[in-house]
Amino acid sequence: MPIEYSNREKSYQLYRKGKQEGTWDPDDYDFAADKDDWEQFTDAEQNRFLASCAGFYDGEEDVTRTLAPYMMALDALDNEEMPFDTVQEEIYLAQQVYEEAKHTDLFSRYFEEVFGTQDTEPYREGGYQEQGYSTDNLYDTADELLAAINGGDQQELVYTLGEAYLNYMGIIEAQLARGGYLSFDQMIELKAEEMGRDVVLESFQTAIGKVRQDETRHIENGRWVMKQLAEAEPDIVQDVYEPRIEEYVENRLLTDTQMEMPFEGYDQKRIGKQTMQYLQDTIDYIGADRFDEYSDIRQTVQAQRAAE
Ligand SMILES: [Fe+2]
Ligand SMILES: [Fe+2]
Repeated sequence: MPIEYSNREKSYQLYRKGKQEGTWDPDDYDFAADKDDWEQFTDAEQNRFLASCAGFYDGEEDVTRTLAPYMMALDALDNEEMPFDTVQEEIYLAQQVYEEAKHTDLFSRYFEEVFGTQDTEPYREGGYQEQGYSTDNLYDTADELLAAINGGDQQELVYTLGEAYLNYMGIIEAQLARGGYLSFDQMIELKAEEMGRDVVLESFQTAIGKVRQDETRHIENGRWVMKQLAEAEPDIVQDVYEPRIEEYVENRLLTDTQMEMPFEGYDQKRIGKQTMQYLQDTIDYIGADRFDEYSDIRQTVQAQRAAE
């Protein structure tokens, strides 16, 4: 079935936007000045910054390698029965997988040229990245999608796809990655202040700005698809979305384990507030009135904190 050009949906519009915005090249950035800046970081600062970068480098590779089954699952859905065009969404994801590969490419180059290593393992162990949600889980999600495709049950396929979108776009991209960008902003700003400079690691921040722009589209598309799936199977919100959100809230928002923070003035609370708003935005996009316990995330978290 060809795309209905008279009915180009959100996923197609985002694909079109991506054709214009997503054309940047990691090879365009020169990291020589960043390397000089990096040498001004103390060991503790380097370790903390590397812990975030290691999570991102591994995460970008993981999302690149596990997105293909999402396209296969969309293709296995009965398009006529769905409230959205699965083909336009497949086209969107074809663009996304290319962008994720480019993000991996950026971190790969940065590790090589600035950090002088390709080994992320020492920086991830016991780090914040491992708490509750890890991008390693995406490989299981991909296997579950393949099993649902082979199983052939349409409702099961919609449920599995909904859980997959929630993990990938709803939690890893919308929560963990965006929280990570806020952390980069603070670490870089505080280090620049300490050094009496306007900016440090300037190429890193500029290139990450491009990644963030790409991720904004990925997140919006993900929220839109989760909403479409909720229209197809309204029970998915309480059967699949809420339990997954609950797990995230318990592991991330209610647990206050913090890594040691060598950057003076670092404000973890501010990041916590902002990421809570991101989660509310996802819930609002899907439709807060569809949710039972998590329609108002701030209220639910406050009630759970009070009960502890
Ligand atoms: Fe990415
Ligand atoms: Fe992404």
